[in-house]
Amino acid sequence: MCSRGKYELLESESEAKPSSKRISALKIFYVIGFVSAFTFIAFIYFQDFAQNASWQTYEPKPTDAPPTNRTFLEEAPTACGVIINEGPMIKVGDLNTYVTGSYMDHRFREVKSIAIVNRQQLVTYSCVLCCNGKNVTTLAHYAIHSDHFGFEYGTATIACPLNDECLKPTHVALTSSANHSESITSFQSIMNRDVPAAFPHQFTVCISVMYDYTNVLNLVEAMEMFRLLGATRVAIYRTNCDSNVQKVLDYYVERGFVEVIPWTIKKHVQVSRGWRKDVSGGELHYYGQIPALNDCVYRYMYQSRYVALHDMDELILPFGVKTWTEMLPNLEKMYGTTFGFEFENNQFPFTSKANRRYDVNDWESVRGTNILKYIQRVPNDPNAFNNFKVIVNPRLVLMATVHGLLDTVNVGKHTVRVNRNVARMYHSKNLTYPLNTNLIPDNHLWDYADELIPAVTKVLQDCGFITG
Ligand SMILES: *[C@@H]1O[C@H](CO)[C@@H](O)[C@H](O)[C@H]1NC(C)=O
Ligand SMILES: *[C@@H]1O[C@H](CO)[C@@H](O)[C@H](O)[C@H]1NC(C)=O
Ligand SMILES: *[C@@H]1O[C@H](CO)[C@@H](O)[C@H](O)[C@H]1NC(C)=O
Ligand SMILES: *[C@@H]1O[C@H](CO)[C@@H](O)[C@H](O)[C@H]1NC(C)=O
Repeated sequence: MCSRGKYELLESESEAKPSSKRISALKIFYVIGFVSAFTFIAFIYFQDFAQNASWQTYEPKPTDAPPTNRTFLEEAPTACGVIINEGPMIKVGDLNTYVTGSYMDHRFREVKSIAIVNRQQLVTYSCVLCCNGKNVTTLAHYAIHSDHFGFEYGTATIACPLNDECLKPTHVALTSSANHSESITSFQSIMNRDVPAAFPHQFTVCISVMYDYTNVLNLVEAMEMFRLLGATRVAIYRTNCDSNVQKVLDYYVERGFVEVIPWTIKKHVQVSRGWRKDVSGGELHYYGQIPALNDCVYRYMYQSRYVALHDMDELILPFGVKTWTEMLPNLEKMYGTTFGFEFENNQFPFTSKANRRYDVNDWESVRGTNILKYIQRVPNDPNAFNNFKVIVNPRLVLMATVHGLLDTVNVGKHTVRVNRNVARMYHSKNLTYPLNTNLIPDNHLWDYADELIPAVTKVLQDCGFITG
């Protein structure tokens, strides 16, 4: 299912602009599309049938792209007579507010929308809910998260309380309540309207913002490690990547392991490449990482027992047991069930001396760095802030941040630090460290090598990056 493609940087499809020249190409595309869709459905059906596997098919969601001409195929779907736009990045009226996703919050009888907002623009929002074919308007309340790092834009949670008149709306649109002449132009579906009887996923990894990404080998190593650790879903907020990385994403999406959420905020807001405005300019912290993390927590709140909020180059590895599945019950016994779990960050620089033990010759031609070669860590300064990441029951979370949780349903402490000998985070990256640093050998990652190597090789073969 993996096709070859030449190296180039791909933007999210939703960033593409339509042109009249493309119309005839579009028709051919639709024909091919039908055939491939049919083949794909047949393939999935056969796979399910043959393996009795529970792969979930990924349904691509419409994006905020300008509508392409497909009137000859189907009418655009509507709710309460209004066009549906699933986003993400739905602009609210003429405000500098961009909604990523809207979710039922069963804890509070509210619909919550995660949004990127201009912090200077003081507004009140109204919610229009589509409820049994009728528009129902309520007043919203919202909070801007405090972790905006001084950038003009920040993350907001906008809540639409539900009343007896409308307990189970299907769609929502936000408006500025100060402007009564403003009418809504689109509706967004409300996700998580139903709570599944059992969690479809035990562990979902939230990868906030894939940007200019080209490291095929690191992506495949990460996905296969996540799988070995017990994750059954990885949500990737993708701005752009090259066509080889896209091929790998398609491979995992087809198998139901990855959900790609198009992350197109840079079309509307100038994103920063860092967290310090004076160093890396822009209007929004680090590619919009924080709203992406919050969106992921809500998106998987009732779909996943736990969410892991970390980057692709970070691996939370337990000791004594092999998987998160075995680790979590132990953590809940040790620390209780009301906290998020913090895992200490440890850095493994690609600039350290490579160890050749798990060097795989076949992988040499694939772009990226084999993390199994770098098994020396930089000692942590006990007095410096540690860039820990968390695994948490998403139903505890009100506001997530990069390192931990800003707010949960529990008062007081929100997270607890897991003893570093129970589990810690392995962060493999190309970083420089002071010359006189005494690196510490730590090859815990090798405990996964015998399973990881054949799994990675198979994906690289299936995708045509190496020959079988
Ligand atoms: C859309 O496509 C149909 C059929 O090809 C054509 O008749 C119509 O003019 C097109 N509309 C626009 C807005 O391009
Ligand atoms: C009210 O909304 C309409 C439609 O979006 C817009 O044209 C108008 O400028 C807005 N007025 C104010 C005062 O914001
Ligand atoms: C809901 O409101 C929109 C405009 O705000 C209008 O276009 C639509 O027809 C309304 N739907 C119903 C069912 O009243
Ligand atoms: C790591 O970064 C250095 C410069 O900071 C660069 O010369 C080197 O090629 C990089 N290595 C990898 C594996 O990306």
